[in-house]
Amino acid sequence: MKRHASTALAALCAVALLLCATTAFAKPILIKFSHVVAENTPKGLMANKFRELVEQRMGDKVVVEVYPNSQLFGDDKVLEAMLLGDVQLAAPALSKFESYTKVLQIYDLPFLFKDMGAVEKFQQGPNGQKMLHSMEDKGVLGLGYLHNGLKQLSSSDPLRVPADAVGKKFRIMASDVLAAQFEALQAIPLKKPFSEVFTLLQTKAIDGQENTWSNIYSKKFYEVQPYITESNHGLLDYLVVTSAEFWNGLPDDVRAELKKCLDEAIAFGNKIAGDKDDEDKKKIADSGRSKIIELTPEQREQWVEAMKPVWKQFEGQVGTDNLEAAIASNK
Ligand code: SIN
Repeated sequence: MKRHASTALAALCAVALLLCATTAFAKPILIKFSHVVAENTPKGLMANKFRELVEQRMGDKVVVEVYPNSQLFGDDKVLEAMLLGDVQLAAPALSKFESYTKVLQIYDLPFLFKDMGAVEKFQQGPNGQKMLHSMEDKGVLGLGYLHNGLKQLSSSDPLRVPADAVGKKFRIMASDVLAAQFEALQAIPLKKPFSEVFTLLQTKAIDGQENTWSNIYSKKFYEVQPYITESNHGLLDYLVVTSAEFWNGLPDDVRAELKKCLDEAIAFGNKIAGDKDDEDKKKIADSGRSKIIELTPEQREQWVEAMKPVWKQFEGQVGTDNLEAAIASNK
């Protein structure tokens, strides 16, 4: 009897030890966060902040690796990679989800939002929040919006009125709305990955491109583009996404803590996006490499008139109710 009891006790101790060892040596969950921009941009800084927060608060359970500058995947491949489990987090521009959902195309409509306040209002409102779930049937979960800012037009020749863009080649993100926007100007849009833009500009394979001040500065586009028109004609914001399979497979407590870290990192990124816009515009102006063209109200109105017909073209795809809510967010 005594011998049986001590054997059972020994077995129990062995199981307990094994459990302790398994917990102590359990491999942390690895989250690879892949993006295409430089580290010193709203998205780069947000991703690094997320890594820091996770390390501080749950470093024993989760490790975040951030891959900037298209080191791991470009935006043309990252969603596929995410669904295959090769990447767990990404934050592509809202323009790059076209093959997964049509509703996010609303964010590409030119001159839709008067400023970033209106963008924030729409994104946090019911229509914007519903869009976070628009790709769940494809296995992609939207976890939150991240700001960059409004886009400017850079070019090898001065662009003051829409007629100046006729026949010129512009690199665009992979978006049919952006293609239609440049076609409305009788310009030639070319869908190309972000990683190729500098070389395309440098070799003069294209005449221009549209981007935010932080991307124009951090990727040195201003060094090879003598003119930047401050057009603020469109939005470049991001959707932080993960795969439903990965996210829903996480233990509840880990998922909840990760979401908190992510919300904080996004709030941090959104707070600095506006400042970076002003700072990077100033650095470009101070460099003297690129002349910044300010439009008169009359010139700006000409760009609005030339580009705005695109709204009608895509209203059916983005949804009339969404369009009306976006317009209302400007009030
Ligand atoms: C990005 O900001 O993530 C890239 C934008 C672009 O492709 O122009």
